[in-house]
Amino acid sequence: MSKRPYVYVTRKMPAKMINILESVAEVGMWESEETPVPREILLEEANKADGLFTVLADQIDEELFQAAPNLKVVANLAVGFDNIDVQAATKRGIAVCNTPDILTDTTADLAFSLVLMVGRRLAEAVECVKTGNWTSWSPFFMAGADVHHKTIGIVGMGSIGEAVAKRALGFQMNVIYHNRNRKIETEKALDVSYRSFEDLVVESDYIVCLTPLTDATKGMFSKEVFRKMKNTAYFINASRGTVVVEEDLVEALREGEIAGAGLDVFHQEPIDPNHPLLQFPNVVALPHIGSASVETRGAMIVHCCENIAAVLKGETPVSLVNK
Ligand code: DGY
Repeated sequence: MSKRPYVYVTRKMPAKMINILESVAEVGMWESEETPVPREILLEEANKADGLFTVLADQIDEELFQAAPNLKVVANLAVGFDNIDVQAATKRGIAVCNTPDILTDTTADLAFSLVLMVGRRLAEAVECVKTGNWTSWSPFFMAGADVHHKTIGIVGMGSIGEAVAKRALGFQMNVIYHNRNRKIETEKALDVSYRSFEDLVVESDYIVCLTPLTDATKGMFSKEVFRKMKNTAYFINASRGTVVVEEDLVEALREGEIAGAGLDVFHQEPIDPNHPLLQFPNVVALPHIGSASVETRGAMIVHCCENIAAVLKGETPVSLVNK
């Protein structure tokens, strides 16, 4: 009888969600939901594994592939896969899978929440009530900026970008976008118009960054960009922290070059609570929760298991990233 394949899951996941995996493989799992698996344990487990179920905090690189002679599939619990060296995986015939589509609306809800939060100063307002600093009604107390009828500039018009555009249109916003390739079909289906990156930066009242992290997008929001933004405009990032030069964002906020920022992602996650970005009242910072609803995370977990099971059964997984 041939040996059953072995799959290692790098975070504790609910047993009932991973039973698809158990039907095709022996399953090992890291003991904690919150703490990342230490590198040496990951390498040891990878050495035995036919499949890995990973999260964004795991670096899946050449060193790991060298330690994993039997590895056939890596399924990442995210739509982004910048933590995985896909080229190195492809060279070794290892399938890399992600979780697109399932998280589109949930992530768009969060990105659009950041628009409302920064514009209408919601985090500051909540804090003010809780700390007893709400002293009276006054005409400009906690007055923020309107969202309706303003211009939103979406950078990265993939499915999450389109879902944000739909929400923005519901708020009667003027929606412009920038994308690597112009999306004529999207322009026909939704009332959105294309701009060069430079024009979008100058025209937008709210810039929402949703682009994947690639060599081309790394550091794309730098001091030159913040300087060109309106000083009444807000910057929202629900993509990856390193698309922004954080020191430049700090400087732009300090100099009043922009009105505020809503950030779900950072260079270092978790961000140091003493980080200069967190000292500004007009910065709303969230702990990378774009896709974090119970329903969506559950569906993402099941999807990862299905992808791994497909590869181990010799089938093509639904969400294959390798080209
Ligand atoms: C993703 O799916 O890439 C998100 O950032 C994870 O929450």
